[in-house]
Amino acid sequence: MSQRKAFITGITGQDGSYLAELLLSKDYEVHGLVRRVALEDPGHRLGRIAHVRDRLILHAGSLESFPSLYQIVRQVQPHECYHLASQSFVSYSFDDEFSTLNTNINGTHYLLAAVKEAAPACRFYFAGSSEMFGKAEEVPQTELTRFHPRSAYGISKVAGFDLTRNYREAYGLYASSGILFNHESARRGYEFVTRKITSGVAAIVAGKAKQVRLGNLEARRDWGHAPDYVEAMWMMLQQGVPDDYVVATGETHSVREFCQVAFSLAGLDYRDHVVTDALLHRPAEVDLLIGNPAKARATLGWSTHTNFQMLVRLMVEADCRVAGVSLAGKAIGV
Ligand code: GDD
Repeated sequence: MSQRKAFITGITGQDGSYLAELLLSKDYEVHGLVRRVALEDPGHRLGRIAHVRDRLILHAGSLESFPSLYQIVRQVQPHECYHLASQSFVSYSFDDEFSTLNTNINGTHYLLAAVKEAAPACRFYFAGSSEMFGKAEEVPQTELTRFHPRSAYGISKVAGFDLTRNYREAYGLYASSGILFNHESARRGYEFVTRKITSGVAAIVAGKAKQVRLGNLEARRDWGHAPDYVEAMWMMLQQGVPDDYVVATGETHSVREFCQVAFSLAGLDYRDHVVTDALLHRPAEVDLLIGNPAKARATLGWSTHTNFQMLVRLMVEADCRVAGVSLAGKAIGV
């Protein structure tokens, strides 16, 4: 069989970089969509994929331009398309609802339309989100739980999910959505709460900071490890029929518990360092997310390899390495 080709949007992000590694390990020819500015500033913008950069084929284009997506899809003729790119920071979606909705909804729509027109046999993955459940109507959340999004981000993901399903039903596209709960790693962006906490712990251990300023400590999330989650994406596109799947650990923890565990790894009490700031609370919060991954387990054979304690530890240790210190605060070579 000829080499399989995959096209990834969002390849420079946390998930895109792990997915690119996974597909390369499976001998795919991996193509990625990047912004023109990323190619002009690779040191800064392509950091997460620098170690595999020479094995990837990157295409400059924009989710805001249907013609650019259409041309790339037509030229590449991918067997699988993973649509991960979006404005993904929920908090920012309150500051700019309009660009979040425009980019996320139109970007998904343009890409689906490009695949339908230019490579209709290509299998399509949409990165849905547990933010679609929002003010969750049942606990735990499954594929059948009704959506009640609480932000422009969540609304944009519901629209993308519906578009993906509609392209499956109306045009026969092999199009699946993962309803992914929070997934973190040492490559997580610094604006998300887990990385903010673990990089904050490292800065305190290194003597470069004294405090971490956070918003709502009582919010509860189902946090998993990102490399496990990209495996589920790939598995979804290897099935006989397209479908939608919840991908989660089935465990929930509060932001406060995350702080407790992260600081205690360095022998610190989070209460001495975490400061809460009302300005960091969201206008509408998602209080509790916990997913039931039974369908993904049974149908895909998917499972997690990293539990909550392991996840916090690997993130704190990685950030300490970046800061050049051991957990005990001793200087180490970076
Ligand atoms: N970012 C952030 N910063 N969040 C904070 C802070 C803070 O200083 N303090 C408390 N939180 C709380 C938020 O209010 C939220 O309840 C929780 O921590 C998690 O926030 P984020 O880490 O920003 O992630 P998220 O849950 O909003 O969204 C992430 O997960 C989704 C999947 O459920 C993102 O990765 C989304 O793109 C993804 O779809």
